[in-house]
Amino acid sequence: MTARLLDGKAVAQQMRAELAAEVAALRGRGVVPGLGVLLVGDNPASRVYVTAKERACGDLGLYSSEVRLPASASRDQILDAVGAFNRDERIHGILVQLPLPDASMEPHVLEAMNPAKDVDGFHPVNVGKAVLGLPAFLPCTPHGILQLLRRSGISIAGAHVVVIGRSRIVGRPLATLLSQKGEGGNATVTLCHTATRDLAAHTRRADIVIAAAGRPDTVRADMIREGAVVVDVGMNRVPDPSAPRGYRLIGDVAFDEVREKAAWITPVPGGVGPMTITMLLFNTVAAARGGPSGSP
Ligand code: GUN
Repeated sequence: MTARLLDGKAVAQQMRAELAAEVAALRGRGVVPGLGVLLVGDNPASRVYVTAKERACGDLGLYSSEVRLPASASRDQILDAVGAFNRDERIHGILVQLPLPDASMEPHVLEAMNPAKDVDGFHPVNVGKAVLGLPAFLPCTPHGILQLLRRSGISIAGAHVVVIGRSRIVGRPLATLLSQKGEGGNATVTLCHTATRDLAAHTRRADIVIAAAGRPDTVRADMIREGAVVVDVGMNRVPDPSAPRGYRLIGDVAFDEVREKAAWITPVPGGVGPMTITMLLFNTVAAARGGPSGSP
């Protein structure tokens, strides 16, 4: 079997077209959805992500305002920048690109955000609401994956989903959302991580494998069953002298061999990435409308 591609680029385009109608309606009422972006330090991958997010805002007719601080910025300087976005009426959503150069600051910085502007869904209030199944801004990558599966006609209800990786940004919220009762959830979820014994024994029993480990070749062909759905969240830079930038991006899945066995697979790039950005736009438009809606 050769897998069909889960085309994140196409689904993202479709969702952005739907959002454009909402943005036009909001603009007609004098509201321009606005995103405040805070980038601390000069992590090259973060710079690429932030640029892509701002470009997507511009393309959709959103306002965006960027603050860049040096890696040496103090906690107070970062908190001041977040406070300014909290007070700015043009800003409906705030994005603090992670990781911060000093990761120990992250909990304080995320908590300083007004939860009503937390379009990444990282504030403890939004994390708690999401766990309880209450309306909340959902983290963009997990929400994007749910949308990609749903809009590609892949049913999650009753499926055994194995998530690899327990990050706060992807793995853990994904496991929560997938296992929730109701539409978009109802999966049986196994959350695997670095202390999991015999990862392959788990992934071989999965209907859907979601790899968010941050390590190339985490999923090989002999680790999945014939006809499984494979979602690759990985975004790993590997040196490639023949590539224009000297590197290329690969995921966590050994794509060429896994695609011969899976029924569906996401490419990297062009799979999960465009969905993450789209869900940020989705949440920012929702914030401008007055808040998040109900289920994923
Ligand atoms: N770093 C990696 N992914 C994300 C994301 O979705 N949001 C933010 N703010 N930082 C990230």
